Amino acid sequence: MKHLIDPMDLGVEEINDILDLADDIIAHREKYSTACKGKKLATLFFEPSTRTRLSFEAAMMELGGNVLGFSDANSSSSTKGESVGDTIRIVSYYADIIAMRHPKEGAPMLAAAKALVPIINAGDGGHNHPTQTLTDLMTIRREKGRLSDLTIGFCGDLKFGRTVHSLIKAMSRYENIRFILISPEELQIPDYIRTEVFDKKGISYRQVSSMDDVMPELDILYMTRVQKERFFNEADYIRLKDTYILDCKKLKKAKPDLSILHPLPRVNEISTEVDDDPRACYFTQAHNGKFVRMALIMTMLA
Ligand code: NCD
Repeated sequence: MKHLIDPMDLGVEEINDILDLADDIIAHREKYSTACKGKKLATLFFEPSTRTRLSFEAAMMELGGNVLGFSDANSSSSTKGESVGDTIRIVSYYADIIAMRHPKEGAPMLAAAKALVPIINAGDGGHNHPTQTLTDLMTIRREKGRLSDLTIGFCGDLKFGRTVHSLIKAMSRYENIRFILISPEELQIPDYIRTEVFDKKGISYRQVSSMDDVMPELDILYMTRVQKERFFNEADYIRLKDTYILDCKKLKKAKPDLSILHPLPRVNEISTEVDDDPRACYFTQAHNGKFVRMALIMTMLA
């Protein structure tokens, strides 16, 4: 039985196969409408979500399967003090596959040790978010036609942003990727990404604090929200939250074929005027998330 806890749990070939399958699902929707008939997906969300949970549920429904679960930890027995391990063991009796999100880093890994069915990490604290990574890889591949030879700028909260950590790890396996990390000093990527990904693999990267200076170089701009819920103090959040606001003026310096990604939800970091720019890919990205989760569920249940 295979779980998906960390984006590196999937090999490059496996990722290719999942992305190919997702493309085929888009091209031939009908063909997959009963692929998971009789199967159940449980979504256990101990932390808020819109896209991830609903796209998982829509994905399972489009495959002809069923869904159960909770979207708020307060409506589960965790408020009575039940451990994640016990909850997972029980839900394993009711569902064929489980997607879970938890504010504690490592919770899905602990859950996997108790689970009797495959576990998918739908986000654990500031750590990993592998299915967002699949969504991002799918979007980059569809927009650019490749996952290699790209300059990718990550902008915003690189410290707490789990989507950033997961995508950096995943992208580090492709040829000739140049990473530009755009953040205020307080929100730079954690040391473990630096040592375990960049240093270990000899990948060069640049850390900058200005978006304007690097804009002309970028093929991909990955914007992120400052992760309010992971801050220890409100004053720091308020000071840092609007450090970067992407607008049409800033995009004047960008390549004509730049792809702008954002895992969403956005707060202020992308002005709504950018939504009409053909380079804005974040809504398509959210749409892709459903198809890649369909491909993932099918693959994990096969
Ligand atoms: C992200 C997350 O939950 O980490 N959202 C998502 O799943 N699309 C990003 C965020 O919350 O900022």
